[in-house]
Amino acid sequence: MSGTARLDRLLANLGYGSRSEVQHLARIGAVTLDGTAVRDVGVRISLTADLPARLQIDGTSLDPLPRMVLMLHKPVGATCSHKEFGPLVYDFLPSRWRRRKPALSTVGRLDKETSGLMLLTDDGALLHRIISPKQHVTKHYLATLARPLQGNEAALFASGTLMLEGENKTLATAVMETLSPLSARVIVTEGRYHQVRRMFAATGNHVETLHRDRIGALLLPADLGQGEYRQMDAAEVTMIFS
Ligand code: URA
Repeated sequence: MSGTARLDRLLANLGYGSRSEVQHLARIGAVTLDGTAVRDVGVRISLTADLPARLQIDGTSLDPLPRMVLMLHKPVGATCSHKEFGPLVYDFLPSRWRRRKPALSTVGRLDKETSGLMLLTDDGALLHRIISPKQHVTKHYLATLARPLQGNEAALFASGTLMLEGENKTLATAVMETLSPLSARVIVTEGRYHQVRRMFAATGNHVETLHRDRIGALLLPADLGQGEYRQMDAAEVTMIFS
């Protein structure tokens, strides 16, 4: 993020309130820059990387500026949607972030029963780059299965000839490594609806649990507990594509 923005617009777009609400915050001295109250919300602020450390609202550092990228450890049971009922992945984030403009979205989806590494961003160009089939970003899943592997699954997934039920385009080649008779690692580059579950369903099996632990070279950190999230830095974003 670079350039400048009017303070009221910046704060309203980060979800701190309407233009008049943030004007009130400034008037009462709740907005400080380098420790000094900024009472005129019409001032233009330079959107530098250090701004969140310098600008405080009610004594708390400003939220991340637009073009933020987050990783979240999605637990089973949460839905990747803004609209549905029940726990949503957005419930794990500060509620103010729901009012951000541009809006924060998940990068692709994990289904409700799948856990693991989930990315979220308000950077539409980055989002499209990650999910674009042309980029071949790998997504790594650990699947546990209802029935023992038969031994022919890896060849089928690697063949590039598997057609999922209800579709008319074959799947791109995918890698499967057997971990035990009832578990496997699957690496795919596409993001079709319930893809891994449907790949195993096509072999007559059933996925009991599914967990994504890696996207590209980016691993789900061992210290990021279920429902926890953190902001990613530029080096981590680069790892998605390597
Ligand atoms: N494949 C699935 O079946 N579910 C997911 O959430 C992701 C990949």
